[in-house]
Amino acid sequence: MDDDELLDAARDALAEAYVPYSEYPVGAAIETADGEVYVGTNVENANFSNSLHAEEVAVGSAVRDGHREFAKVVVTSAERDAVTPCGMCRQTLAEFCDDDVPVLCDTGDGFERYTIGELIPDTITPEMLGH
Ligand code: THU
Ligand code: ZN
Repeated sequence: MDDDELLDAARDALAEAYVPYSEYPVGAAIETADGEVYVGTNVENANFSNSLHAEEVAVGSAVRDGHREFAKVVVTSAERDAVTPCGMCRQTLAEFCDDDVPVLCDTGDGFERYTIGELIPDTITPEMLGH
């Protein structure tokens, strides 16, 4: 899938964000290594700390369906402000991404382009635990 199609999927997901507290919708789209697409949005909670991030929701859906390798990630917010995955989400994504997997962050008229290895270098990996 090309970058703009994946971006459209992430933007479409924004409509389902549950963000009564921050009022800051985030959408994420993951393309798996075998070409499937999974999206997620943030799901907030009245206790704040239980809020789910868009990337976590997308990862959960992909992994639930048996996918273990991701090829590309797009993240967007309603502000089109090139939001990047937070530290927690970087680690969560890295579990299923080689270092060179692109992470594209929506600027409104294009992308800020990163790789997951740039966003979270030298992270703990499954291999370090013997997997
Ligand atoms: N948020 C995400 O969904 N992903 C990130 O990695 C950054 C932050 C959400 C969490 C919260 O609902 C809102 O953005 C404001 O922080
Ligand atoms: Zn996050």
